[in-house]
Amino acid sequence: MDKIRVNLKRMIDDSYDIIIGKGIIKTISEALAKENIAYSYAVITDSNVEGLYGKNLYEKLRSTFDKVDLISFPAGEQSKNREIKSYIEDHMLTSGFARDSAIIAIGGGVVGDIAGYVAATYTRGIPYIQVPTSLVACVDSSIGGKTAIDTKHGKNLIGSFHQPKAVFIDIETLKTLNTKQINEGLAEVIKYGVIEDKNFFEYLEDNIHKVYEFQDETVFHIVKTSCKIKSEVVEKDEKESNLRKILNFGHTVGHAIEQLSDYKISHGEAISRGMVFEGKIALQITGWNKDNQKRLIQLFEKAGLPTDLPVYMNTNKIIEVMKLDKKAREGKIEMSLPKNIGEMFTTNKSYGISVSDELIKSALGQ
Ligand SMILES: NC(=O)c1ccc[n+]([C@@H]2O[C@H](COP(=O)([O-])OP(=O)(O)OC[C@H]3O[C@@H](n4cnc5c(N)ncnc54)[C@H](O)[C@@H]3O)[C@@H](O)[C@H]2O)c1
Ligand SMILES: [Zn+2]
Repeated sequence: MDKIRVNLKRMIDDSYDIIIGKGIIKTISEALAKENIAYSYAVITDSNVEGLYGKNLYEKLRSTFDKVDLISFPAGEQSKNREIKSYIEDHMLTSGFARDSAIIAIGGGVVGDIAGYVAATYTRGIPYIQVPTSLVACVDSSIGGKTAIDTKHGKNLIGSFHQPKAVFIDIETLKTLNTKQINEGLAEVIKYGVIEDKNFFEYLEDNIHKVYEFQDETVFHIVKTSCKIKSEVVEKDEKESNLRKILNFGHTVGHAIEQLSDYKISHGEAISRGMVFEGKIALQITGWNKDNQKRLIQLFEKAGLPTDLPVYMNTNKIIEVMKLDKKAREGKIEMSLPKNIGEMFTTNKSYGISVSDELIKSALGQ
């Protein structure tokens, strides 16, 4: 017998900048020309964002780079699947995109997640740039390198960690979102206050209404603070071995609601409900008190977000789906639960809390 060791210890620097500003979408092409990231770019977008911002960005890039393609797919969560991933890949392969190319994902979280996942595997991995245009994408999905697609077995079950080379957030693009889409992003924003920053939660209690008036200063502060909290968590625990789990507050119940509604309920409207119900579970085990729970519900109401379970959803079904969630361990449901506003609960230093079926049933009221 003989043994050959393949030494693969490596130092990786995947650091990147998140650039936030007003009207910065116009500067992306120039900024990329200076960076030397790639020679050719595939701009990936969806059918709504294509006409709003995708085409303009594509035209700008074409005047700077020799080879640029615009690839668009039907908007919506239903497109975050294997078929659309193959469609994008086949388009790029037919077009001759090689390893010296990069992807630009311009759109909401669906575009970012699927385009990022294509980038993670295309010719074994190419760089990508996030240009988030929905509030969910600006404050959450464009940062942190989680890329994925959905299958009939559940959301985000196939994917990869692949960090973007840069994130460009133009808060001007948020002006074309409708109120419902803004509210969906605010669900993640409120989550950051609960999991990490009491002052931010209080700021939201006092100022959240200004988002609807598009007060630049408020929108900028909310986006920047959210990005800062998310990036600090990701810096400390990129692969979600512990701390990053706090970002999943509301998402164990939330993902089950999304799936059981056949994705007719949006992510934001599922996780506001998820946070309320995980809050109810927290009331019984973490020291999270009734006043905190009341403030959480009131803030969601201010942000036009639902806080009740859909009437047609039964607790046993939700439990069943949660057991298949990738956060479940050995068939036990795991959640991240708040202890106080701005502080998450740990047991044995772990932020992943195992929760029994009985506790879930009593919290969910069945
Ligand atoms: N990777 C992560 O870490 C992470 C984090 C949070 C959410 N997500 C994923 O993100 C997705 C949800 O993101 P989303 O809410 O952005 O969904 P989405 O991409 O479907 O966008 C919502 C809708 O807004 C439209 N839109 C986007 N920008 C617009 C603009 N500026 N003006 C008008 N319309 C615009 C889109 O076309 C779409 O119809 C889910 O798939 C979720 O799993 C991923
Ligand atoms: Zn989320």
